[in-house]
Amino acid sequence: MFTIVRTHPDIVRYAVSLQQRDSGSLGFLPQAVFEQHVDRLFLGLLNGEPCGYILTNGGWQGVLRCVQVAIEYDVRRRLYGAMLVQAAEDYGLGLGCTSVRLRCGAELPANEFWKSLGYQCTGTLPAGKRFSCLNVWGKKLYPANPATAWKNGRPRVYATNALKQSEYRARLNAKACGQTLQDWKRSRYGR
Ligand SMILES: CC(C)(COP(=O)(O)OP(=O)(O)OC[C@H]1O[C@@H](n2cnc3c(N)ncnc32)[C@H](O)[C@@H]1OP(=O)(O)O)[C@@H](O)C(=O)NCCC(=O)NCCS
Repeated sequence: MFTIVRTHPDIVRYAVSLQQRDSGSLGFLPQAVFEQHVDRLFLGLLNGEPCGYILTNGGWQGVLRCVQVAIEYDVRRRLYGAMLVQAAEDYGLGLGCTSVRLRCGAELPANEFWKSLGYQCTGTLPAGKRFSCLNVWGKKLYPANPATAWKNGRPRVYATNALKQSEYRARLNAKACGQTLQDWKRSRYGR
């Protein structure tokens, strides 16, 4: 059975090790980046064992970026990668993002993967030594509450000010009860 989780004792260690094994396609991010952005890391579990991950950004200015996605070599082409991308898109929708973007080395088979998921190649960027260029892929998202304004990197995702204030009060209550912001978000939104 394939499941996707966002908390796991080995989530960072596993993502770093799979990145190392697939560095030809994925490039290199230091472990500190995975640790810092662990709340944007989704782990695929096959029968309880890690088999892939996806790392996104935080939806800055309504654009969700897929930073890295990888699936273990021996379990590819079973739609697990597609399911991880779906989980990331759902996360982006929750943030009010209106598009997803990513870059993919022009020579990688992964270009076919993005095409099959409905992404469109919107242009190219210069690449380093590994690829002739980077293809820029994108897809539109249609969130119920689009992030219409951004201040200090925070999306405006509440439909009304009343809703925003009630969320703020709930956060203050949780803080007064000694809950961390991360635990509060998890208990309220499951993320
Ligand atoms: C890209 C990657 C994450 C895809 O994961 P996956 O679980 O194998 O992909 P899926 O099974 O969900 O594929 C969905 C569809 O994408 C297309 N696709 C996926 N991999 C493909 C490939 N190597 N060649 C051609 N089409 C491919 C197919 O249409 C596939 O559907 P199908 O198998 O029914 O034909 C995986 O190949 C991988 O980890 N690659 C190395 C790391 C990498 O390149 N990451 C992306 C960098 S931008």
